[in-house]
Amino acid sequence: MHEAVDPAQINLLDHESVVFFTGAGMSAESGVPTFRGPGGVWKTYDYEEYACQEAFDADPARVWEFHNYRRGIVAQCEPNRGHRLIAELEGRLKVTVVTQNIDGLHQQAGSTHVVELHGGLWRVRCDGCGHRQEGRESPFEDPRCPACGGWLRPDIVWFGDLLDMSRIRAAEDAMAECDVMVAIGTSGVVFPAAALPMVAKQAGAAMVEVNVEPTEMSALYDVHLRGPAGEMLPRLMERSG
Ligand code: OAD
Repeated sequence: MHEAVDPAQINLLDHESVVFFTGAGMSAESGVPTFRGPGGVWKTYDYEEYACQEAFDADPARVWEFHNYRRGIVAQCEPNRGHRLIAELEGRLKVTVVTQNIDGLHQQAGSTHVVELHGGLWRVRCDGCGHRQEGRESPFEDPRCPACGGWLRPDIVWFGDLLDMSRIRAAEDAMAECDVMVAIGTSGVVFPAAALPMVAKQAGAAMVEVNVEPTEMSALYDVHLRGPAGEMLPRLMERSG
């Protein structure tokens, strides 16, 4: 296990592998609303009406309206400085991004090893026949399955949905193998995602939390960088140990 870690000594460039575990705060500086903070998505929209299978079964058009609203916001957002710094690190060490975000901004910034725990806003699937498709239409006008005529649904994890086991395993493997684990912009209250950093902790990784405020999971971390991701991330690459 690591000894107590001095924040001034953490320089990602001194290490071989890093996992970034990201949440909505990662994309906040791009203009994507978070879920629980001021102006958070779940402050305005009740997930029971817009983001669960029961709501979709009862009124798919209404649920699509909500997801088209989210598509509309994300379509106008660009990756921010934090996304770009993470993508640029790939040339220098092994980088895996384990994200709870569905906005695709890590990939848009150039990250190639991204585990999307909660799915992707630009993918849709038909649970009737298994058809899948991807595209950035906004709004997505015709959510009827071209193969069977059933309803296409967003390929994202709603409340009550199970996470894809292969993604959980990929995330756990990356967590177990990394030297440094950096959680960015996540409140750490949504499980099972919130438990994944514990795998890194148990395996002896140095643990860094980047957030504008303390979280439910802060005690898990050795180093806390309090501030916006785009401002804090450069510090992890500039300090010369
Ligand atoms: P939350 O909205 O719960 O938390 C966002 C976190 O980002 C908070 O801890 C903020 O303090 C922090 N934050 C805000 N702006 C920031 C910035 N510029 N830089 C750094 N930190 C910042 O979002 P998540 O933790 O991602 O799931 O939520 C987890 C899951 O809950 C989401 O994936 C979503 C939601 O229900 C599903 O939809 C399945």
